[in-house]
Formats: sequence, structure tokens, C-alpha cells
Amino acid sequence: MPERRPLKGLHSPALRGWATVPGDKSISHRALILGGLALGETRITGLLEAEDVLNTANAVRAFGAQVVRQGPGAWKVNGTGVGGWRRPEDVLDFGNSGTGSRLMMGAMATTPVTAVFTGDASLRRRPMGRVLEPLKLFGASYDARPGGLMPVTLHGAGQAICADYIVPMASAQVKSAMLLAALNAPGRSRITQNVLTRDHTERMLAAFGAEIAVEPLPSGGEAISITGEAELKAASVAVPRDPSSAAFPLVAALVVPGSDILLKDVLLNPRRTGLFETLREMGGTIEVRDERESGGERVGDIAVRASALNGTKVPPERVPDMIDEFPALAVAAAFAEGPTVMRGLDELRVKESDRLAAIIAGLREAGVPVQELEDGMVVEGRGPDGVPGGGTIATHMDHRIAMAFLTMGLAARDPVGIDDAATIATSFPDFESLMGGLGAIFESVAG
Ligand code: S3P
Repeated sequence: MPERRPLKGLHSPALRGWATVPGDKSISHRALILGGLALGETRITGLLEAEDVLNTANAVRAFGAQVVRQGPGAWKVNGTGVGGWRRPEDVLDFGNSGTGSRLMMGAMATTPVTAVFTGDASLRRRPMGRVLEPLKLFGASYDARPGGLMPVTLHGAGQAICADYIVPMASAQVKSAMLLAALNAPGRSRITQNVLTRDHTERMLAAFGAEIAVEPLPSGGEAISITGEAELKAASVAVPRDPSSAAFPLVAALVVPGSDILLKDVLLNPRRTGLFETLREMGGTIEVRDERESGGERVGDIAVRASALNGTKVPPERVPDMIDEFPALAVAAAFAEGPTVMRGLDELRVKESDRLAAIIAGLREAGVPVQELEDGMVVEGRGPDGVPGGGTIATHMDHRIAMAFLTMGLAARDPVGIDDAATIATSFPDFESLMGGLGAIFESVAG
């Protein structure tokens, strides 16, 4: 276990200037995995070089693909072709990453190899059955700790068969694992989602030459058909900047008086921009500039100015489009006037931490009243100068809880401490220096 690194966010002067947050985590995982399954040389630029993604790179390598770093964010992957993965020589350690582990389970499930998946204490508490059970439809089998917990031994199908599966929860990871498994299953598989979730896997599969068709359903969901025994061809992937990382400087700029910043080249895929929409509804001045297409995704520069915020009610149907952004939204809501109601958050219970519980406990520790609901919370906003701060927030090995409460400290009356900043390296290793460059003040706490 690495040492804990306590840190405080301090009342800071206006944030100014521009910054580029790191590459998108979801797209980075997928670029490495599809590169590892494709034939030929995949070139990736802008890859997120954070612990979660580096663990995926190691796992793709362990299955036999060549994965080489050529420079900052520049990687090349020489894949084995679909069905060409070999048995890893060692246990695969995915650290903190649900996405890396679950997508890799799908990607190997229809190839006759066996692999052992494990992770850190947080990942070993997260449910894997949601992916492992439906992978049995393709012919895979597994052994896990009770409750479908890691360590997991997964045996890829000897003779894979195609599958027809309805994803029962709003999860892009489950959908993606099934789509990746379908790649080596003869015939056409159909994966249905009743709620739309991030579609990076579908987009990237098409770019790598898979036969994939997405049919909208009258219910508002989608049926995705994909042909197995696919021949994926290497592609170039330019990874846009991660809107889930942009969330923290963005919220900081809204709540620290006088701030005015620009965040460049941010991914604007509509399945990822629910936070921006919600903050605008709360009165946030958030302007998208130079919106353009890059590598099959919408990107743009986001200009943010400090704003007076009002509480709001987040429409539950928007939740999947901002599923990782509730820690950041809770901070904005604390500085708003009036209550902010967030419901339909059941999936937050199974993130890197029980994120709903961690947010509520953190808000209370910092003196912000919050009402807990079974599937959400109501944050009683204290207004721009009314957040007391103080205290030390328990991060529970959750990078987004850590970044959110450090952000709160920048505008609260008293500093806000977190028990461990080391966890931020899973998704945003440069968080402190990037925020510091804009004017944020953090202070180390003697351990
Ligand atoms: C992700 C999907 C979401 C999200 C996670 C990344 C992905 O998880 O919370 O950070 O890249 O597919 P779920 O599929 O569990 O909702």
C-alpha cells in the first residue's frame, strides 16, 4: 500500500489563464484494447498516461500485443488480430480501474485463454458479476469470490457462440464488454441498452473496421448488432481531452470569484456533457468556442467565468450523461443559492467508492447541509460566500472525491483537507500543477 498523502485546498485568488486537461480516460482504454485486437500498427496520440490506463496497457501487452510508448501521449500498438491473444504469464492487476478490467474481460472472453484479474482494495469491492454473468452467454466461464468479486479467473470460450443480451443497468462498461466479446463469436450478436450511455466503443469499433450497426428503439434505447470473427484493422486515434477531468477546473472557475479560464480541446460527445448543461442551467457562464470534429468526436474549447449559481433539479434521464460528474456538481451546488436535487444515482453506489455516501459525508464534514435520499441527495446550497469548509474528507480511494473536495477548498471560508491525494494519479496525475498554474493553492499536510 503506498503512503497516504493528505492535502488541503486553500482559499485562492481568481483563477486565470488556459489549460489542457489530460486525454480522455474512456477513449484511452479503448484505443489500447482495440489496438491490441487489430492487425497492424495502431498509432495513438494524446493518450492519458495515468495509472488506470497504464494498467490496461500492461494487460494488453500481457495478452501478446506489442505496446510501445514513443513520447508523451504517443503510443503504438501492434495487435495480434481478433482471436490471437495468448494466456498471460502472470496475474493481471488493474489497480483502481473498473473500466480497464471489465473491458478486458470482454475482450478476452471469446478466445480460449485463461487469465486472472485483480485490483486494489477499491476494485476488489466492486461487482464484476454484471460483466461475468452475461459473458457466459458467449461460452466463457469464471471463478470469483462470493458476490462476483475479484480476484477473478476467467476462462475464455473454447467454442464461442454469439449472443443476444439486454444490458439491465445504465452501464457503458457492461455494454462495451459484450461488444468486445462479440468480436470473436461467430455470427451476429445483438446488445440492447434501454438507456443510452457513452458510445466510444461503438464509434471506435466502426473506425477499426468492425461491422456494427446501431438501431434506435422506440423506447429511446438502442439495439447494437455486431458481426463476429471480425477482422479489425489498425487505425490512428487522436484522444480528445477528458470532460470528466475538465469538470474540476471548470467548477473551480465558477466558484472562485473573478475567475476567467479557457480549457482547450475538450471532448463534447453529448453522452458526456451533462454536467456542462446542468451548470449552465444553474447560471454558470460556460461558452464553447471553436467547436469542431476531431477523430470522429466533437471537441471544443471551453471558456468559463465565475458566476452566481442557483440550485436546480437534475433531470434523472440526464444522469448517464454525467455519471462521473456528481462529485464536481455537488461542489458547485454547495456554492449555489438554494437546493440542488439529484436523483437516480443508484449506480454511484458501485463506483470507485460508494460515491453517494462519500459525497454526502464530505459535504457534511465541510459544513454543507445535505439530505440523503435512497437514490440521490439534496444539497442545500450556502451561496458564494457561505461554505464553511474545514475538516478532512475521507476519499475512500476515489480520485474524483479527492479532486472535488480540494476544489471546494479554493472558495470555502476555511481550507478543505482530504486524507489522500495519491489516488488522483489514477486519472489526472498533473491535477495539482495544472490547477496551480491557473492560480489554485494547495498545501501539503504533514502525515
Ligand atoms: C466508463 C463507464 C462508466 C463510468 C466510468 C467509465 C467507460 O461506468 O462511470 O468512469 O469508460 O465505459 P459504468 O459503465 O459502470 O456506468
